[in-house]
Amino acid sequence: FPMPALTRRAFVASAAAGAASVMLPLLQQPGANAAAVREVRLRAAPGRVPLVPEPYGVTPAWCYNGAVPGPEIRVRQGDRLRVEVENGLAEETTVHWHGVRVPNAMDGVPHLTQAPIGVGERFVYEFDAVDAGTFWYHPHQRSFEQVGRGLYGPLIIEEHEPVRVDRDVIWVLDDWRLTKSAQISDDFGNMHDVHHNGRVGNTVTINGRTPDSFAVSKGERIRLRLVNAANARIFGLDFAGHKPIVVALDGQPVTPHAPDGGQVVLGPAMRADLIVDMTGEPGSRASVVDRFYEGLEYRLVDLAYANAPLRERAPDWPITLPDNPLPEPELENASRNEVVFNGGMMGEMIAAEMGAKIGPGAPGGMMGGMHSMMSSSSAWFINGVAADAGSHVMKPMLTLARDKSHVIAMTNATAWHHPMHLHGHSFRVISRNGQPTPHRECQDTVLVSPREKVEIAFVADNPGDWMFHCHVLEHQAGGMMGIIRVA
Ligand code: C2O
Ligand code: CU
Repeated sequence: FPMPALTRRAFVASAAAGAASVMLPLLQQPGANAAAVREVRLRAAPGRVPLVPEPYGVTPAWCYNGAVPGPEIRVRQGDRLRVEVENGLAEETTVHWHGVRVPNAMDGVPHLTQAPIGVGERFVYEFDAVDAGTFWYHPHQRSFEQVGRGLYGPLIIEEHEPVRVDRDVIWVLDDWRLTKSAQISDDFGNMHDVHHNGRVGNTVTINGRTPDSFAVSKGERIRLRLVNAANARIFGLDFAGHKPIVVALDGQPVTPHAPDGGQVVLGPAMRADLIVDMTGEPGSRASVVDRFYEGLEYRLVDLAYANAPLRERAPDWPITLPDNPLPEPELENASRNEVVFNGGMMGEMIAAEMGAKIGPGAPGGMMGGMHSMMSSSSAWFINGVAADAGSHVMKPMLTLARDKSHVIAMTNATAWHHPMHLHGHSFRVISRNGQPTPHRECQDTVLVSPREKVEIAFVADNPGDWMFHCHVLEHQAGGMMGIIRVA
């Protein structure tokens, strides 16, 4: 009696999940407030994963603990996390704890905060989970290929008193460029991707699978934690008549609100925590659709309602998350720093146009950068400088006084979207094109649209040299990164 394909796949999935649960609480403290130390092991190594269903075949990928995504690391706010990383790849690697405010030496940036972890070597990361929220981890070494081949996983830091929901669900979204036989296309870092919108693929996965449906019940309340782990794809999710409420962005609580424009827009590396009440009828189906790129809509997954409702109407439980211990920037006393992005295909034209608007007071180096833009093979520039990804010595593009408030005004003089990420800090997004933002947004990655100007503000309370870069990983590799020194 042959085992049905579905059952076999389910078995593979649960076996992978079993291998992934390696979290061992080292110390169980008796006191309610005492911090626990959570020990986790991650082994980065090649593996094989069922991204797409039979009969397309299994995909060779790079995995943490044999799976994509890597294991869900879940701790409580205030816990200490100790992660031993073993490098089973054929090249150097590191792990970066995206969005977590860690000490500089734990930030996982090769040649800046640590030596890369050599082949067969180990490195132990240890830091406190200061902020509750939805975070993720990924390599920072050749990330356009290492992340693109599957190295990433979710990191959830639970509030001491989480908001009440029926289910807490994580969807780690990724986008793959697969061949017809489900092999990962080898063209990482090709010049077309670098100069345009990055490595946008052809297969979107949720938690490393291409599921047809997601089972829900009428009346059910779900906290849906979305993580965009794609190299380059931006998602604009439409929940088919459901009315999700955004309660956190990049792990940090916001004023609960319906998504602007009805779509939950997530650039690469961004996260959103949604409260979704399942309001459909028993037995019905509703498609979650990605509509970010005009004319390229596709069905991400169906919400498939059970025949029996969980309850007749949505619960009225409160949904506001408690604040994290983040210092609030003082805008009156903040230093002001202008940052301009140039480059990419069609960049020169727009840069010239913006130059006229910005005028002669434009930040130093911009014109020099435009000059070098035409004479070098680099693709992207921050204040006129393209970082040389191959060089290990980089001078800070900004030095910010420690414990003081700072505003960074970013002007996107390119024709492309850039999800800009700052390490070591979460920042308030205070305005877009001069308009104050409405939801007390606090993020670590902010999507800056073509020609848009976005202002962020934060207290530089974490000393060290921190990366500031575009999270379209091909743009980063093409020079769109710099160092911000907090001293
Ligand atoms: Cu998600 Cu510099 O990284
Ligand atoms: Cu970019």
